[in-house]
Amino acid sequence: MKDKETIRQGLKDNPRLKRWLDYLIMNQRDARPRWYIRLLAPLYQHRGFGSKIYHSVRMDTPPYRDFSLGKQSVIESFCCINNAVGDIVIGDYTRIGIHNTIIGPVTIGSHVNLAQGITVTALNHNFEDTSLRIDEQGISTQPVVIGNDVWIGANAVILPGVTIGNHVVVAAGAVVTKDVPDNTLVGGVPAKLIKQI
Ligand SMILES: CC(C)(COP(=O)(O)OP(=O)(O)OC[C@H]1O[C@@H](n2cnc3c(N)ncnc32)[C@H](O)[C@@H]1OP(=O)(O)O)[C@@H](O)C(=O)NCCC(=O)NCCS
Repeated sequence: MKDKETIRQGLKDNPRLKRWLDYLIMNQRDARPRWYIRLLAPLYQHRGFGSKIYHSVRMDTPPYRDFSLGKQSVIESFCCINNAVGDIVIGDYTRIGIHNTIIGPVTIGSHVNLAQGITVTALNHNFEDTSLRIDEQGISTQPVVIGNDVWIGANAVILPGVTIGNHVVVAAGAVVTKDVPDNTLVGGVPAKLIKQI
């Protein structure tokens, strides 16, 4: 069977088919998968043994991108998980806390604890061209990577292109704009090193 990248390339070469498939899969106004696609999601996604996604989670996870949740990992109530523009891969024993928003491409390791109200986003809207509205300029993505054994405090924001190392604490309310090395505590807006752990 062809892998997803080959299929994606094939669709790029056939824009009419791509538009038609996109119409069948995505609600164009809401920019989220149609109800019948959402029902099928557990069949085309990897969800590890003992993992749990609460009913109120908004899973905007169309089949043309990967979504994977490791064993014993949990996505708590009122989260929004969106992989429409990039894969989302979450490791084992990881907790995505209440009211988090994750927009791919994002990779999160194992034994990671995201507190409440966090946004992890790999997506920016383009805005450089002043002759066009921002919503006419498309988007760009830079992957976000969060290592293993990380605790991110409430209401933090992790921005596109950031890599967070292993055994890291991000203080509550931080806005993380740059990479974070292993064994550190960072905090503030923009986030700066508070101390080595
Ligand atoms: C970072 C945190 C863990 C404290 O760690 P700590 O090692 O005890 O740090 P301290 O309290 O000694 O503070 C060290 C410095 O960081 C600062 N600091 C602490 N928390 C901060 C935050 N959220 N934002 C910015 N600076 C912070 C302190 O003011 C202090 O600065 P100073 O040295 O200039 O006085 C804690 O403040 C925090 O943010 N916890 C998150 C709690 C949470 O989100 N819980 C949700 C349940 S999972």
